[in-house]
Amino acid sequence: MQIFVDTADLDEIKEAKKWGIVDGVTTNPSLIKKAVEKLKSRGMEISMEDYIREICKAVDGPVSLEVKAIKAEDMVREAEILYQKFNHVNNNVVIKIPVNTAINEGDEIFEGIKAIKELNAKGIPTNATLVMTSTQALLAAKAGATYVSPFLGRIDDYIRSKLGIKFGKWDVFDGSIIKKIEEMQRKEKKGNVAELYEEMSSIDYSDEGIYDGVELVESIIKIYRAYNFKTKIIAASVRNALQVRKVAEMGVDIATIPFAVIKEMINHYKTMEGMKKFMQDVVEEYRAIFEQ
Ligand code: E4P
Repeated sequence: MQIFVDTADLDEIKEAKKWGIVDGVTTNPSLIKKAVEKLKSRGMEISMEDYIREICKAVDGPVSLEVKAIKAEDMVREAEILYQKFNHVNNNVVIKIPVNTAINEGDEIFEGIKAIKELNAKGIPTNATLVMTSTQALLAAKAGATYVSPFLGRIDDYIRSKLGIKFGKWDVFDGSIIKKIEEMQRKEKKGNVAELYEEMSSIDYSDEGIYDGVELVESIIKIYRAYNFKTKIIAASVRNALQVRKVAEMGVDIATIPFAVIKEMINHYKTMEGMKKFMQDVVEEYRAIFEQ
């Protein structure tokens, strides 16, 4: 599994690169905003273009940069600008296109897909972002997206909010527990078939049959494997190490992971405890080997 760093913070990118674990970077307007605010709070003047060039230079792997428009033709134009300005730096720019750019009811809903198709025809690689369903991922792959980014964490947030479950941004969520609750409630039902069908189908705590973000990734992997789509899956909006473990076990192509979660992945209480004990147990004779 490749690891992308989900950040626009150059310090984080450079640090993670030193660890030898970075295969790429994903940014989005919110991550760019956070990075700009950090620089400004340190009184640093920045040229956005220079800063993005630095990011591209720092990574020997794909760097996703997102468009800001919502109409297909504007997205294609912005994608060309981003590609022309930054791809020559390290030949690694990928354009992030929201899979559906509708903001209000009645807005056009296929602009993202249209833009992906056009960029594919122009040979500009794309990352279909804000993917929340397997069918969006299917359409993005059909349109020729190079990457597709299902948003695990935001699906977990959505299901928990819908069910009134309190949570913090980084909290683990296990949709299989919700599935069990659903089964328990269904078991108690009695009546004739028609009534039971109506009642039981009204008990549904999923998001269109998906119970958590990890399950969304599993579903997309299944669909892509069934039809041999070349589009690579990036597990995005990752909130904790458990999600990383689960999608890695599924064989997802890539996970884009925030710096804090990468740190969480390396930590374990027993590793620390073990280190303390090893340090205490170094005998003089052994220490002497290293003294030169
Ligand atoms: C990456 O491609 C996404 O933009 C990012 O993972 C979103 O993460 P968030 O849901 O934590 O904002």
